[in-house]
Formats: sequence, C-alpha cells, structure tokens
Amino acid sequence: MAAPSRLLIRGGRVVNDDSSQVADVLVEDGVVRALGRDLLPPGGAPAGLRVLDAAGKLVLPGGIDTHTHMQFPFMGSRSVDDFHQGTKVKEEMKILTQEKGVNSFKMFMAYKDLYMLRDVELYTVFSWCKEIGAIAQVHAENGDLIAEGAKKMLALGITGPEGHELCRPEAVEAEATLRAITIASAVNCPLYVVHVMSKSAARVIADARRDGKVVYGEPIAAGLGTDGTHYWNRDWHHAAHHVMGPPLRPDPSTPDFLLNLLANDDLTTTGSDHCTFNTCQKALGKDDFTKIPNGVNGVEDRMSVIWEKAVHSGKMDENRFVAVTSTNAAKIFNLYPRKGRIAVGSDADIVIWDPKATRTISAKTHHQAVNFNIFEGMVCHGVPLVTISRGRVVYEAGVFTVTAGHGKFIPRKPFADYIYKRIKQRDETCAPTPVEREPYKGEVVTLKSRGTED
Ligand code: URP
Ligand code: ZN
Ligand code: ZN
Ligand code: ZN
Repeated sequence: MAAPSRLLIRGGRVVNDDSSQVADVLVEDGVVRALGRDLLPPGGAPAGLRVLDAAGKLVLPGGIDTHTHMQFPFMGSRSVDDFHQGTKVKEEMKILTQEKGVNSFKMFMAYKDLYMLRDVELYTVFSWCKEIGAIAQVHAENGDLIAEGAKKMLALGITGPEGHELCRPEAVEAEATLRAITIASAVNCPLYVVHVMSKSAARVIADARRDGKVVYGEPIAAGLGTDGTHYWNRDWHHAAHHVMGPPLRPDPSTPDFLLNLLANDDLTTTGSDHCTFNTCQKALGKDDFTKIPNGVNGVEDRMSVIWEKAVHSGKMDENRFVAVTSTNAAKIFNLYPRKGRIAVGSDADIVIWDPKATRTISAKTHHQAVNFNIFEGMVCHGVPLVTISRGRVVYEAGVFTVTAGHGKFIPRKPFADYIYKRIKQRDETCAPTPVEREPYKGEVVTLKSRGTED
C-alpha cells in the first residue's frame, strides 16, 4: 500500500528557535501546508490522510548535521591534489558556487603534506570565497607544530593514542583558530570554524565575535558529550576509537564549558563530524598513533547527546536547542526558512520528540555501521519517536522505513543574507582611504648602492 501523501501531526508542541506553540501541522506533498489549532475535519480523517498523535510530545524541525564524512577516503587510503593549482581551483570554486549549489568550502591548516594550507594560501582562498559569496570553513590546527610534536612523542617511545593528544595540545588549536580569524578578517570573508574542541579555541572565537568579527564556531557531539581522558585508557582499541582531530581534550570540564558557550551564542551550530572507522581500520596505527585513521561517530547520537547535556541539564531551553541543531545552520548555509523551521511553506522535515523518554546509547543497538560508540552507556533523555523527511515517515517506533536514495541534494545560493549583509556593508563603508596631503618637497637622502660603502 502506498504511504499516504498527507500527514496530520496532532496536538504536539511545535518548537521553533524563537517560540513554541501547541498546534497541529498539516503536511502535503513534502511541505507544511497549515499550522494551527484543530486542523482535523469534524468528520475525522479523510482517506489518504494519516494522523500522528503528538499530544504531550515536541514537534521539532529535523536536525541539520553541519559536518559529516560518509565514505571519505582518508589517511592512507588516498592522497589528494593540493591547492597549488592556482586559478584552476579558483574557477572550479566559482562553478561549484554559481552552477552546482555549493556555498561553503573547508580549508585545512592541519594534515601537513596532505591538505595543509599556508597562510598566504588561506589568504588567497578566503579572498575567493568572499568574491563568490561562499563561507570559508576551516579546520584550525597548526600542522607544522603537530608534525614536530608527533616526532617528539615517538622519540620518547609514546606510540599509543595518548600521543595523538600530547602532540597537539589546546594551544595548537587556539593559535590556528586566531590565525584563521585574523586572515579572514583581513579580507572581510565570513569564517566558520569546524569542530571546535577546546576551551582555548572556543574563547578565541567568543572574543572575536565580541570584537565584531563575522565568525561562527561549530562544536560537535563528541566534544560536547565526552572527553579526552579516554586516550589514556589501558585498552588500546578503546583509546584508538576516540582518536580524531582536533582531539578530545583531557580536561574533563571542557564539554560543560563548550555547552555554556553554545547556550549563549558564543558558539553557533553543532555537527557530528561523523567519520567512522572499525577497530581493524584503527589498528593501522597499533604501533604508531600517527597512523590511526582520525574520526569518531555521532550522526545518530548528536540530537540525543545535545538534548541530554544541554536541555535536560538546564543550560538551554527547547528553542535554543532548535537553533543550534538546525535553524542556525539553515541560516548560515542559506537554506532558511525552507529548512530549520516548521512554518507554512517549509519542507516537512520534522521530528516528533519525547523529552521524557530515555534511551541508553550502545554500539550493540545503534544503527551506525561502526563497531564502537564513543557514547557507550550514556543514558539520554529525549528520544525521537517519529522522523519525517520531506513529508515521508522514515523512522517510527524503532524501525527505519527509508529507502536508499531518498536523500536529496539541496542546491544552496551564495551570498546568504544572514552572513553577507554585514560583509557587504563593511566593504562599502569600512574600506580605508588615503590621507590627502600636500606632496613632500624637502630633501630626500640618497642611498648608496652596495659595494660603494667605505
Ligand atoms: O578526525 C577527524 N575530524 N576526522 C574527519 C576529518 C576532519 O578533519 O574533519
Ligand atoms: Zn577537520
Ligand atoms: Zn573497550
Ligand atoms: Zn570533519
């Protein structure tokens, strides 16, 4: 039987980033058609209309995970060309932005000899991003210091996963974060710092925002839900499964600190940076931590971990939760209000959320392919009951009903108002101008050329 093309989500509390209201949501052809009280006709549901009871539940915009790596060839599997291809790169970025709907580009300051860009290259690419109306994303870690630190750790006989954190401490992340912000600001390009993992880097972003810089910070589920003490776990595979860059921080107060900054808008969005490797793949680095493929899970866990750590803990309300899990991302990447909001005309990407129910995260029950979960054993309040993607129920009562290929690429336009209004205005009004002066008419010393000095 074909799934009904119309859905009525009844009596839930509809939560957007700015307000909440008890309302019915009518969905037709993948889009929200009506929002209001008592939308069910008096005679009951007509044929073809499926009613989902959401009384006592929350109705949230579908989460937008700002950062994932699916089937990503990485660390040993494949190397890539670098950015030294000059104008060809420049042209490709323009085509991607103007014709293919790509409006963000990630640059790496880490992974020396693989992806790492030098300052002048960052300057050039940030300038192009600004010219074509994209947002520059940056993986902020000092690749040179990491390379030197790694040599030092290996020379000290530290070959295990703890070496991964020891060779790239917080300052390595904070320095690169400040450098990226300084370079982006020099060309008036908006900047988005991916996977903000440390207190020091988060402070740099908070300070820059207070200084008026157009910069956004993205903490990830891993950094909000667990910490880097796991690198010292005696079980090698356990420690290795936490290896990612920038690393989780051994200071156990880091997640709380990042959550507080996320709650008050010093940090803006949340991703998962989902990039998973099974134990046998992590084992490529069993004798040398620099060879452990970097990456952790989170795509399935992100919403629950953030609800538990941010909303259940009392740091955020339900509206800020929506802001940091979907709305802000939709605004920055120019998908709003089609995505990131439940309103008439928006795509029907909706989660019916039970804030009172709990579930325990485990690799034994998760739906991710990887054989380890960094949140193993975490009890989370906040459970998705039904997930709707473009008007179709794709998950319900623990069962996925989605077919491969249902996902759709949404082209994104450049020059997102949310970030570019300020950038354009600054271009118009903040350009430096020369001081008008009478020309200097006095004496000018004559320089002696080399070799003629006595
Ligand atoms: O360790 C990580 N973060 N793996 C994914 C690649 C990246 O740098 O985001
Ligand atoms: Zn990265
Ligand atoms: Zn273990
Ligand atoms: Zn990543």
